[in-house]
Amino acid sequence: MNKHWWQEVVVYQIYPRSFNDSNGDGIGDLRGIIEKLDYLEKLGIGAIWLSPVYQSPNDDNGYDISDYEAIMDEFGTMADMDELLAEANKRQIKIVMDLVVNHTSDEHAWFVEAKKGKNNPYRDYYVWADPVDGQAPNELRSAFSGSAWEFDDASGQYYLHLFSKKQPDLNWEKSDVRQAVYDMMNFWIDKGIGGFRMDVIDLVGKVPLEGITGNGPHLHDYLQEMNQATFGQHDLLTVGETWGATPEIAKLYSDPERHELSMVFQFEHIGLDQQPGKEKWDLKPIDIAELKAVLVKWQTELGDEGWNSLFWNNHDLPRMLSRWGNDQEYRVASAKMLAILLHMMKGTPYIYQGEEIGMVNTPITDISQAEDIETINLYHERLAEGYTEADILTSINAKGRDNARRPIAWDASENGGFTTGTPWLALNANYQEINVEAALANPQSIFYTYQQLVQLRKDNPIMIWGDFELVSTVDEVFSYYRTYEGERWLVVTNFSNEAQPFTAEDEISAHVIDNGESVTTLKDITLQPWQAFVVKVN
Ligand code: GLC
Ligand code: CA
Repeated sequence: MNKHWWQEVVVYQIYPRSFNDSNGDGIGDLRGIIEKLDYLEKLGIGAIWLSPVYQSPNDDNGYDISDYEAIMDEFGTMADMDELLAEANKRQIKIVMDLVVNHTSDEHAWFVEAKKGKNNPYRDYYVWADPVDGQAPNELRSAFSGSAWEFDDASGQYYLHLFSKKQPDLNWEKSDVRQAVYDMMNFWIDKGIGGFRMDVIDLVGKVPLEGITGNGPHLHDYLQEMNQATFGQHDLLTVGETWGATPEIAKLYSDPERHELSMVFQFEHIGLDQQPGKEKWDLKPIDIAELKAVLVKWQTELGDEGWNSLFWNNHDLPRMLSRWGNDQEYRVASAKMLAILLHMMKGTPYIYQGEEIGMVNTPITDISQAEDIETINLYHERLAEGYTEADILTSINAKGRDNARRPIAWDASENGGFTTGTPWLALNANYQEINVEAALANPQSIFYTYQQLVQLRKDNPIMIWGDFELVSTVDEVFSYYRTYEGERWLVVTNFSNEAQPFTAEDEISAHVIDNGESVTTLKDITLQPWQAFVVKVN
């Protein structure tokens, strides 16, 4: 396998709305990001995945795009974007753009045209279907509740929206649509971006009238075509969001010989605390043995036919520290343990904004405190289905997307220094304690563990290329070796609130990193709750 820059870096995800507000309107923006590039350089990351900054009416906070080649007014101008690229490049940081092309906004010029009538040249840029017996064409559901079909009075047809009604699905079967997407991608490539994160890319091969949404028959033909027409000649990071991927499916996307993407985000581990066959809102406790089995499978099955992405968090997921860590008594220890466990695995690690300072979930007590369309729709749907309000709020507090979208606290001043105005979404009430300034001032903070992990990766090829091998332990302990060119590292982590036993025959030859306690022997030791360490062994 050829080596690529995107295997060596750590990527940092920015959700611009919540990152840093430069002009006091309560909404994070591009100039706010530019102001914080020195902070990101200090963390050491090599790329930023920027959630969408394009023109959008914000039905789904920028994932509903009305113009792919313009910047959202609230975020700034194209000149600001160009400056962000230049300033990031100066610091050896690449910018990976979010590519949202399964759907557009209903306010995109293509859809405005398409709605004008069946004969409009843009009509079949989208997916239209006639009613069946006066009803929607089939039972397909929107990810944001309700039917995926919306009736258009004017033409008497339905259009498809796998997300909100304001996110009509593009028709990828039409080659003009694909060509328009490739032209737009080349517009951004020509600006010198570092790549694309591809939103729900597994859906673009859909055959909706046959009920097929994910992994459609022509999906990989389209991606090969896209690769050739756009980024194939450049060494860009391309990462597909693929919810249903198994290792076999992931290889189809990321086997270098197939010329599609660099890697995918797989979500198998993310689904482990939901009841099988139900929705993410239907909770069940995480079983660490199951989690290990899934992560080990991904570590070992891709081989040279793919490359892993490593993540605990993103803008759609609750904060992992609150979810499977311990955000109370062991907040610092468990945050560092999660970081060490993840960054020591094989693949490209992603840090979601605020993870590096140990930000936690923000429970709500009333639906009026929610901003996210998915959460609000779910609330009304479940209320109508007879769930109690308390049940629904429990699910929302565990899984709702607003948890990850609370503004970043930069210091202990009002609104955490995020804005001088009124934040679009309130900060977590703990911002006086958990904020960037406090983290930077404390050499023992979670921030410095992340910084150390990023630096270790730069200095030690074993972290990038080493083989992975699980060590057998009690269920709550997750331990593995990485081995590369005669060197061997042992990673030991306790994924629980209780002390746990651990033993290995190896002799320690050097310490690499730990989250508090360093060890002198590996024989018959007791791990403290959430303890994590990495040692070089003979
Ligand atoms: C992806 C995004 C999510 C968005 C959805 C529709 O899952 O990550 O935020 O709502 O696609 O674009
Ligand atoms: Ca602003």
